[in-house]
Amino acid sequence: MSEPLTELAKRRGFYFQSSGAYGGTAGFYTYGPQGAALKRNVIDAWRERFITQEGHMEIDAPTVMGEPVFEASGHLDTFDDMIIECPACERSFRADHLVEDETPIEDAEAMSFEAIEETIAENELSCPSCGESLADVAVSAFNLMFETNIGPGSSAPGYLRPETAQGIFVEFPQLKEYARNQLPFGVAQVGRAYRNEISPRRSIVRVREFTQAELELFIDPERDTPPIDRVQNVTVPLYSATAQEGDGDVVRMTIGEAVEDELVEEWIAYYLAIAAEWYESVGIDMERFRYRQHRPDELSHYASDTWDAEVSVDGNWIELTGFAYRGSYDLTKHDDHSNEEFTIFRQYDEPVTVEEPSVDPEMSVLGPEYGSEAGKIADELASLAESDPDAFDAESVTVTVGGESYTIDTDVTNFSRTATKNGEHITPHVVEPSFGVDRLLYTILAHNYREDEVEGERRRSLSLPSSIAPTTVGVFPLMTKDGLGDRARELARKLRVAGFTVTYDDSGQIGRRYRRQDEIGTPFCVTVDHESLEDDTVTVRERDTMAQERVPVDDLKDYLTDRT
Ligand code: GAP
Repeated sequence: MSEPLTELAKRRGFYFQSSGAYGGTAGFYTYGPQGAALKRNVIDAWRERFITQEGHMEIDAPTVMGEPVFEASGHLDTFDDMIIECPACERSFRADHLVEDETPIEDAEAMSFEAIEETIAENELSCPSCGESLADVAVSAFNLMFETNIGPGSSAPGYLRPETAQGIFVEFPQLKEYARNQLPFGVAQVGRAYRNEISPRRSIVRVREFTQAELELFIDPERDTPPIDRVQNVTVPLYSATAQEGDGDVVRMTIGEAVEDELVEEWIAYYLAIAAEWYESVGIDMERFRYRQHRPDELSHYASDTWDAEVSVDGNWIELTGFAYRGSYDLTKHDDHSNEEFTIFRQYDEPVTVEEPSVDPEMSVLGPEYGSEAGKIADELASLAESDPDAFDAESVTVTVGGESYTIDTDVTNFSRTATKNGEHITPHVVEPSFGVDRLLYTILAHNYREDEVEGERRRSLSLPSSIAPTTVGVFPLMTKDGLGDRARELARKLRVAGFTVTYDDSGQIGRRYRRQDEIGTPFCVTVDHESLEDDTVTVRERDTMAQERVPVDDLKDYLTDRT
């Protein structure tokens, strides 16, 4: 992000490093009043598009979860980055970032530890902090989760969630009930995630506490298909894994073509389409945007295919969102590790008859004859039906219980070779669009920052879409005297009641007031002047064109509604 924009972000209250009074804490940022409002508006827009319009549910799970959850999810074993510690100054660095920063290698994250060590040695890389050689220093794995203890003592370790997704997966047995056991259904969550990043950087792009907006869509992989016809004409820039491995480039094609060519899995394709339209609506410059497919060597432990939405800011590509096909990985893991079933019942269209030998012994006969052994005999008959169904072709079958043989009439066992089934339990597959909200805000600011010159002075503005701008209308009296201040305050109050976000400002020259609003991206400013007292009109000034128009106060609400 450019220096002037970073300065503007702090000065105007978008965001700044937290705990500045204590020297700041690396990787933690506070959103000021403008940033918090922008974030809220962007999240609202996300909710509207990805939850409300798609008919999904939203939950709000805890940010701390116990160790078994992350043992099952694989995060305890595999959620690591490569760390290298300087033997002289003892500062730690992300080894792959060091390689990327100091060599022409662009994606060191996919390299093995040995390859990273060799590259550091061959290129004689040294500590970025004190200059000590790192040539012979070992690279090790660093787990990114923040650990804590749940309750006093250390017997119940817990972790701050590294993704909101696990809070959804662990509740699947309950959530499927709310979905009336019918696939497909989607569950979203917007909330904080925590990663103890080795080297946080680029302000809010890589932080240790951030906000994710994630959607987990549970589908029946054999039956459910997305409504591709609704989005097939949406054109997206695709940078496939094959293109990255060869000399290929980004290709613009419609979603319909991408699915037909089997370049993108169709559920992922559906989300790439609606997300592209949504990104544009919140102010992302689509000329600096692409979807990049993960190469096989960079796929996460849970994903079989992933496409990242990436944006270019100051010439660097940043990952905004991951669209992953997680298959049955998560639900299978939680099913294996917990006492619950993470499956759903798939009803057949018609009942089917299957080869499934079974018995249904007549206990009214076995009970009186064999007393307390009757139940065990019935169990043995069931085992025999499975292991040797042909044994039931004879008139009687013999089973052994507690070393004693029992011969039972086959008729009494009610043996059957087949069973009628109405359905089966399946493990749904998961399709996941995972949005990072902070990176989105960073990009929205960077892509909408403008500088121009007005009356010999540099004007800085944010061309934010009205729908997400922290303030929609600035209301100013030309001066506070002659009743203009009261009139303007009253107008501001009425506009607030009408649902607009309004800032009232009567300090300094009117030009300065315009600049202040331009810098926080306010799309409209309304000035009350002496003419307003005579004819009840005001001047409305538009941010980007700076065009001014006289509008009757009675029409103002509709005027602004039409344009915001
Ligand atoms: N549930 C899948 C998941 O968490 P991810 O690619 O690790 O996938 C999703 O994260 C998004 O979260 C990223 O695309 C990015 O926008 C955001 N994100 C991840 N780590 C971040 C960090 N340290 N700081 C800010 N945003 C981050």
